[in-house]
Amino acid sequence: MTSTSVFSNVQRHIPVVGDMALKSSAAYETTRLMARALNAAQMALAEAYINGLEIPDTAFRAMLHTSMPILFQHCPALLAPYEWVLKESDHLAESSKELMEIQYNRPQAMLNQMLGDWPIIYPKYSTGFWENGAANLKESQMHMIDQIIERLGIVDGDNILDFGCGWGCVPNYIMSKFPNVRFTGLNLSHEQCEYIRHKMKDPESYLSPDRFTLHEGDLNEVQFAEKFDKILSVGVFCHVGNLTNAFQRLASFLKSDGKVFIHIITVRIPNNMSSGFTHKYIFPHGRYWNYDAVPNHGRDLKTIDRWYMNGMNYHKTLTAWLERFDDFQASVKSLDYGMDYAKFRRIWRFYLLLLGTIFATCDGEYNGNGQYLLTHA
Ligand SMILES: C[S@@+](CC[C@H](N)C(=O)[O-])C[C@H]1O[C@@H](n2cnc3c(N)ncnc32)[C@H](O)[C@@H]1O
Repeated sequence: MTSTSVFSNVQRHIPVVGDMALKSSAAYETTRLMARALNAAQMALAEAYINGLEIPDTAFRAMLHTSMPILFQHCPALLAPYEWVLKESDHLAESSKELMEIQYNRPQAMLNQMLGDWPIIYPKYSTGFWENGAANLKESQMHMIDQIIERLGIVDGDNILDFGCGWGCVPNYIMSKFPNVRFTGLNLSHEQCEYIRHKMKDPESYLSPDRFTLHEGDLNEVQFAEKFDKILSVGVFCHVGNLTNAFQRLASFLKSDGKVFIHIITVRIPNNMSSGFTHKYIFPHGRYWNYDAVPNHGRDLKTIDRWYMNGMNYHKTLTAWLERFDDFQASVKSLDYGMDYAKFRRIWRFYLLLLGTIFATCDGEYNGNGQYLLTHA
């Protein structure tokens, strides 16, 4: 018997630690109960903050810096507050409509200020890459896309699908470097698509109609008449609940010798992770897949390479977004949030502080981004 299987056998009977899939039923039920209790405590804190409880940012961060290493290292099974986090969902992406309402179709003037909007780097809602000495948010996003170009092996002339294209930042930057690359972008957010349509009429933008095709639609239903040389998807799979269905779909869009690059938030713990607060207020049915989930769903697409990107990159990005969110308050507070701005601001500060701090836990070694290069299986 190997040491791993001895450990798994012991772990089976111990509530709270390790891999949920290995647990005896008594250990499983006890762990679920404790995960619900932890989630209830986090929700109580979140609701108190949203309703006006003053917690200085330093105290908030210190609390998470103390508790999160214990959870990641010793009881990761408590980080899945709901059963659905542990298994594949029925739909490829759950709660898409609600996600657009409470997240992606929020006033764009606010989102664009928070994320940053420059001539080549449009708002990009995913991590920057800071490890190559980026001096600021914009540079970190350029370095991030440079790395994607290299890892996906983009060459001039490629016909590429961006699955969840946001504001078109990644296609615009890549097309600025390759004069004969063409892109199709898929996005369900009407507001983000409106931003892209505006850019498609702007002669300064690389999202020109002869090189860029916009498809406003849902990942769950989309079909394309053509097949692509490359597919990339950046920061979208936290909204995908069924990797098997998603990969079947992506494989059907890909040429026989094509390549797929998936960049997602990931956790280096045995189970997937989520949070009650983000599920209710920020990303309904959002989840972080564990680092092995993509290679473990290899029926239609096989992983031929993968990289773990340290969480300090997202920590720095979220810290920059929080600073911008605070700095630009005066110009965005009168926009329509469907609620009092003071409440909205507290919800979003809690979100940016919570995620920003968790990514920095244990020097970014547990919660970061996973990048995967895949081909037809
Ligand atoms: C975190 S953002 C990342 C956007 C972009 N890839 C980037 O890096 O800036 C996720 C994107 O996925 C889109 N999205 C989420 N769920 C979707 C769905 N069911 N169908 C189509 N697009 C979806 C969102 O509207 C948003 O543009």
